[in-house]
Amino acid sequence: MTTKSKSTGWSTKAIHAGEESLPKTGPLSPPIYQNSTFQFETAEECVAAFTDEDSGYVYTRWGNPTQSVLESKIAVLECGEAALATASGMAAVSTALLTLLAHGDHVVAMDSLYSGSYNILNDDLRRMGVETTFVDATDSGAVERAIRSNTKAIYLESPANPTLKLVDLAACAKIANAHGVTSIIDNTFATPCGQQPITFGFDIVVHSMTKYLSGNSTVVAGVIVGSKAFIDSAKKGALRNFGGVISPFNAWLTLHGVATLPLRFERHCANAGALAAFLENHSAIERVHYPGLRSHPQHALAKQQMNYFGGMIAFELKGGVEAGEKLVNRVELCALAVSLGDVRTLICHPASTTHLHVSPEARRRAGITDGLVRISVGLEEVEDIIADLDQALA
Ligand SMILES: Cc1ncc(COP(=O)(O)O)c(C=O)c1O
Repeated sequence: MTTKSKSTGWSTKAIHAGEESLPKTGPLSPPIYQNSTFQFETAEECVAAFTDEDSGYVYTRWGNPTQSVLESKIAVLECGEAALATASGMAAVSTALLTLLAHGDHVVAMDSLYSGSYNILNDDLRRMGVETTFVDATDSGAVERAIRSNTKAIYLESPANPTLKLVDLAACAKIANAHGVTSIIDNTFATPCGQQPITFGFDIVVHSMTKYLSGNSTVVAGVIVGSKAFIDSAKKGALRNFGGVISPFNAWLTLHGVATLPLRFERHCANAGALAAFLENHSAIERVHYPGLRSHPQHALAKQQMNYFGGMIAFELKGGVEAGEKLVNRVELCALAVSLGDVRTLICHPASTTHLHVSPEARRRAGITDGLVRISVGLEEVEDIIADLDQALA
């Protein structure tokens, strides 16, 4: 379902952007440079490539032509100056945070986050002397009140995994800017088709490209988008040194996925809108969380800041955990699987899977109830998805 007028040329950009560097004769689609190192004719050329990295490729952990095409394409779609592809979504999150933060710094983060991101902030970075305050970021005032003199970054998701809570993008970016704090957002659920946080004033966007951007559950990959200065420092520092680089093969597979993202995402969202309406009227269901429903507490904000309401739905069953287990055991078309953004419809129970390693107390604070079921709505005929859930709920 569309809320605002769609940005013009998204499909054209998804297909053509970033490919300008390819030779005008030769392979039509970007070739894969499946190699780790690059050779030089002379010592001088080699020194030049080491001195000015924009002048050539040296070693794939430093950069690779297939990776560069993907990065240029994502930078255009996210309206950023530059992008850096990584080995996974978590490599994007950790590389961005390691580039920004040092011992003694403080972060303000949303309480509802993907569990890996929550764990980096709550465990790994805390161990290294970086403290995080988790807040209900649906209230931008709470984000501002948590900022301290040593706060370096605010870290958010919208829609958040798995609660589908939103943050006010413009308000949060403005707060970060006013306090001289770097704003980071994980845009995995919305995709660049759903919203471009940089146009609302965000500094850095991260993605798990494992999801919608690649789209077929064949890849694990991530990306960071931001200013050229930030991306250069992440590339030359944390990415290169900690080594979370994307493989050429995964960059190449992701390029194929991104080309069809606008088309796929439109269908994901149309299916999700119809399924959410069906679920909301089902007698076995207590509550449906979907930004496109009028009953979503932030529906007005969704209409204001999102081009599409997205392909992810969460809902609570009247029978709690037991009913959730029965449901996921009974579905036939929907696959019982974690991850999201696949062409197939995936169903999972966050409290016992994706968020199992988040403490019950932190889950409760974030609104991740034990009976919450999450669906990544696929591209099948929506009538077939509804029929499957209907028989499983019966
Ligand atoms: C919102 C979000 N961000 C980041 C990640 C981590 O991505 P990856 O599994 O590619 O490392 C996930 C994974 O599910 C996610 O849902």
